[in-house]
Amino acid sequence: MRDCHREIAKWLTAAGAEVTVDAAGNLRGFYAAAQSVAPRLLIGSHLDTIPNAGVYDGVLGVAIAVALLEALEGRRLPFGIEVVGFSEEEGVRFGTPFIGSRALVGSLDEELLNRQDANGVAVRTVIERFGLNPAEIPRAALADDTLAYLEFHIEQGPILESLGLPLGVVEAIAAQTRLEFAFLGRANHAGTTPMHLRHDAVAAAAEWIIAVERTAQSHPGLLATVGQIEAEPGAANVIAREARVTLDLRHESDDICGRAADMLIRLAEEIAERRGLTLRRRVLLSQRRVAMDPYLVDQIGEAIRKIGCEPHRMVSGAGHDAMILAEIVPAAMIFLRSPGGISHDPAESVEVADVAKALECGLQLLDQLASSSELQKRMCRA
Ligand code: GLV
Ligand code: MN
Ligand code: MN
Repeated sequence: MRDCHREIAKWLTAAGAEVTVDAAGNLRGFYAAAQSVAPRLLIGSHLDTIPNAGVYDGVLGVAIAVALLEALEGRRLPFGIEVVGFSEEEGVRFGTPFIGSRALVGSLDEELLNRQDANGVAVRTVIERFGLNPAEIPRAALADDTLAYLEFHIEQGPILESLGLPLGVVEAIAAQTRLEFAFLGRANHAGTTPMHLRHDAVAAAAEWIIAVERTAQSHPGLLATVGQIEAEPGAANVIAREARVTLDLRHESDDICGRAADMLIRLAEEIAERRGLTLRRRVLLSQRRVAMDPYLVDQIGEAIRKIGCEPHRMVSGAGHDAMILAEIVPAAMIFLRSPGGISHDPAESVEVADVAKALECGLQLLDQLASSSELQKRMCRA
């Protein structure tokens, strides 16, 4: 992350921005407005990745934001532009996503700072080891003069490609729930314990995982993923004492996402009880569906049309920092087509021509916003 900051800071500085790193490890580059007192528009995405990641998820949005500043060639707008490269969006290390963006909306709280990774290292400690001071996190909060947040991101799915369109407008981001379960059985010898006398934690987890898949298959629009599984003590000749699994649930409807979570928790309890195990669980994330700002959605649609493309409106199944920013500022997103619909994998890619379109759309959008009477009103309030 340090190398990444160093590199992007160079680009931002060359484009005329002033660069800082806030106490949550977010890279921030401020490009001043034409006037000394003016509101600011945030454009950003995240710089962290998942294991075995592709190279576009998140960082492409930051690169596009920097490229927009470069394309302005020193031209100043009636609002400043703050480019943000969020430090931790994926939630891989601590199980909870959006740690960087939470600092901007004031919800990177004590509980989250104390959350630990698999090695027992807390978020707070990681921040300190990076050379930052967690006590300064409140200063990372969004400035009162923030007008809106924009995020460019690869679609990470097949829809735009199937429609033959380079760009899309996000209307809303789906609800998502993340849970962690531990099935707690009894360890014993694999060669001496008869099958009917076992309390096998892995077998219980496996039964539940198949039920999770069946449940999602029978509920249209529901996406359920068990992406992580760990067994203890984890030896071929030992019946597992403990099996820890994660559950990632998504749906466009909060209600269906919530009911599916309840149903799968009950199912895990039933399986554990029938097999003489106990169950421990904790909620890692409970994020409601978030609507993007209708005015910005329309403006993005218009910008896409003006550059000769059709603006397809869509709901994002993937989570984004925009969900968090939307809690306190108008937020919107522009998607770029994902070849093959592949993401969260090294095969993730993007077409150069689509990135050029995204930049063209971004510049068009900045011009629209600079002359928008609705935005003038918001600027007066900011
Ligand atoms: C973010 O990548 C997500 O898991 O939706
Ligand atoms: Mn991702
Ligand atoms: Mn992402």
